[in-house]
Amino acid sequence: MSESKCPVIHGKTMTTTAGAPVADNQNSLSAGPRGPLLMQDYQLIEKLAHQNRERIPERVVHAKGWGAFGTFTVTHDISKYTRAKVFALGATTPLLARFSTVAGELGAADAERDVRGFALKFYTSEGNWDLVGNNTPVFFIRDPLKFPDFIHTQKRHPRTNLRSSTAAWDFWSLSPEALHQVTILMSDRGIPTDPMHMDGFGSHTYSFLNADGERFWVKFHFKTRQGHAHYTNAQAADVIGQSRETYQEALFGSIEAHQYPKWDVKVQIMPELEADTTPYNPFDLTKVWPHSDYPLIEVGVIELNRNASNYFAEIEQAAFSPSNIVPGIGFSPDKVLQARLFAYADAHRYRLGTHYEALPVNAPKCPVNHYHRDGSMRFFDNFQSNPDAYYEPNSFGGPSEAPQYREPPLRISGEADRYDHRDGNDDYSQPRALFNLFDDAQKARLFANIAASMTGVPDVIVERALTHFERIHPDYAEGVRAALKTQK
Ligand code: HEM
Repeated sequence: MSESKCPVIHGKTMTTTAGAPVADNQNSLSAGPRGPLLMQDYQLIEKLAHQNRERIPERVVHAKGWGAFGTFTVTHDISKYTRAKVFALGATTPLLARFSTVAGELGAADAERDVRGFALKFYTSEGNWDLVGNNTPVFFIRDPLKFPDFIHTQKRHPRTNLRSSTAAWDFWSLSPEALHQVTILMSDRGIPTDPMHMDGFGSHTYSFLNADGERFWVKFHFKTRQGHAHYTNAQAADVIGQSRETYQEALFGSIEAHQYPKWDVKVQIMPELEADTTPYNPFDLTKVWPHSDYPLIEVGVIELNRNASNYFAEIEQAAFSPSNIVPGIGFSPDKVLQARLFAYADAHRYRLGTHYEALPVNAPKCPVNHYHRDGSMRFFDNFQSNPDAYYEPNSFGGPSEAPQYREPPLRISGEADRYDHRDGNDDYSQPRALFNLFDDAQKARLFANIAASMTGVPDVIVERALTHFERIHPDYAEGVRAALKTQK
């Protein structure tokens, strides 16, 4: 609507935050028309003070994101693997999805080459289940001790305040476990055109527990029904030149236009004891489980069909954590997953505050009964309904534990030590299998993308990276070497 046609609507009386009517919101209170201002102009002070508090810390990673609400509907019976109600045949569960890039800050351009976050919050009748995955099935590291170092290489250099290709390639070339993820990142899949045209993965191995107390290892897959679409580096540069917000425009616009994106939900299942016999560690986040050994099993469909009406409250303040699981779904020994169980809720307490889970977007849609009390901004029930039951155990009918939800014991063994996560690990076969799947044009783009990302990287680091590509496949190293020459 053009400004001249915009109707003037006279609404409610404006007030201060304390509810008192505001008589004048155009002019500060001053001694004479030229000033100075009077300190009693609390209205001005409140306005400026509130503005100073408008920003909260952005996520330390995955700061730039796009989200929407929708549903998950179960179309196939997998009750022999899990008793989770969210997987009951025919069940429909409301959910929130947030997609993101990893490295960019809150204002980063959307169409940048990066891994995409694929975070889902299922508001189940048994509590919130968060699956905080990516658009790739593997990750750069397999030991969480490396995560802050890895992220430093993706963020800004402390002196130049610029992103550093040297840091990225130094770390990757010293961390061969990253080769699988780096190959995906530098392939066509490194710049999806928008959140709808990419798959999602839980990436880690999780566990399923069925009604008989049996445990299965599980990997989650979300297959886009929109098809895959990607930008080349040149297309992305062009797109970013036109708009830095293309993902927000695409996702928000698609839902506003009632074109609701969908993903098929599938799982790979491994019986508990088979984990002892696979030729690779099934809890290694840098590895996929071959589909020939563990085929995809159909489960259901996700549809996104509602935009947030308040981006800040519902998307920016959303708090996803891999530690949020529900009965019938469990963790696994994956070391990176184990570390993430700590990291997210800790980040939320810092980023959003003590009661982040009481914010409407994070609040479970089922009864919540615990004994945490007080704390900053405790605006919700603080035991008023049953004030004598504020500790546990108690004789006043307060909430109590429910042993029927106990997980079956997990066998673990071994001596406590700092085991070298690189010992005996094959970091080359799976990237080789992926490389062999690419056709010639895809390989050429992979080589060109890697060469482009190595601009300015010292030769010694480039050569180190090339020795790893050589071990994946001689054609891989040769292709990158040739692309580097054309680059110069
Ligand atoms: C966000 C830590 C690995 C996917 C975050 C955040 C932290 C974090 C602190 C910000 C949380 C917030 O402020 O809300 C870590 C650590 C990791 C790790 C310590 C490894 C040791 C991974 C992996 C994946 C992943 C392996 C995917 C498989 C995500 C996603 C988000 C995120 C999607 C954004 C969630 C959202 O949309 O709010 N991570 N992360 N991270 N991480 Fe990780």
